[in-house]
Amino acid sequence: MKIFVTGIHGQVGWELHRQGEKQGHHILGFDHATLDISNRQAVQATVQAARPDLVINCAAYTSVDRAEEEEALAYAVNEDGPAWLAEACSRARIPLIHLSTDYVFDGSARQPYSEKDRVSPLGVYGRSKEAGERAVRARLSAHLIIRTSWVYGVHGNNFVKTMLRLGKNQQELKVVADQWGCPTAAADLAAALLDMARQLEAGSRQWGTYHCCGATATSWHGFAETLFALARDRLALQVEKVLAIPTSDYPTPAKRPLYSVLECGKLARHFQIKLPPLTTSLTALFDELVALEQSGP
Ligand SMILES: NC(=O)c1ccc[n+]([C@@H]2O[C@H](COP(=O)([O-])OP(=O)(O)OC[C@H]3O[C@@H](n4cnc5c(N)ncnc54)[C@H](OP(=O)(O)O)[C@@H]3O)[C@@H](O)[C@H]2O)c1
Repeated sequence: MKIFVTGIHGQVGWELHRQGEKQGHHILGFDHATLDISNRQAVQATVQAARPDLVINCAAYTSVDRAEEEEALAYAVNEDGPAWLAEACSRARIPLIHLSTDYVFDGSARQPYSEKDRVSPLGVYGRSKEAGERAVRARLSAHLIIRTSWVYGVHGNNFVKTMLRLGKNQQELKVVADQWGCPTAAADLAAALLDMARQLEAGSRQWGTYHCCGATATSWHGFAETLFALARDRLALQVEKVLAIPTSDYPTPAKRPLYSVLECGKLARHFQIKLPPLTTSLTALFDELVALEQSGP
């Protein structure tokens, strides 16, 4: 397939590129410099000229805290960007897979969120992403909106890499224990997106909104303990203790949902896709990080 991917230098875009090419797809990747998705004319002209079979939007304004100060920019990228992509896909008569977030929910639930649950974002980032979902639905019926959560991977900045960096030099770390969600490996998400693309090409018409995240629900503290337990023997680490702290001890400009576990049954029923548990995905990531370390700079 000829797949048009925005945000190609982000965590998910980068994985889509490497896995998509391996699977024999023609990945037409665009980074921020080669296509600013908030530019309506550029989006229209670039999609039209590329004549892809499908667009996957991995570009987004993802700085959750900075968004509180840069509201206009967050909305330009997260609401207008998907709107222009959906408009261009509608004109080209091709589908759009658009990524969204668990932060469209306020975290007051006590059981995993389904696609039918009411959205109620707490901050600018979540509100701008929710506006992006509505913008896609309003312009293009042939869409998949894929909500994911707590993304980490080999490429880009993320919680796992921050923990490993801190754990190399510090014996004790403090990590928030009262925010719950599902960590998602960018590699697993990219594989799932390519599977969906293949099924769309084969004639699937299961359009709509889906949850797609790693199979393990945990807190940031639980996530840190799991990753250190797996990494300890393989990567040189100083860390001995991970202290559990409440969100109130780690204030941030943006309020985050305390519980944003996503229920992914709809994706399993319609696409037969289920992401692996945390330990499986982290082991694969550490295999790659160790290999990178051994291959040197
Ligand atoms: N990361 C998470 O934990 C998480 C959780 C839930 C949902 N998601 C969603 O998953 C998707 C992928 O996330 P990710 O972690 O791969 O994000 P990421 O690593 O931050 O990548 C996003 C990419 O979008 C690019 N970008 C920003 N503004 C742009 C614009 N106006 N035009 C074109 N490109 C632009 C960025 O480039 P520059 O850096 O050069 O600006 C960056 O390379 C996003 O939709 C995000 O909202 C992520």
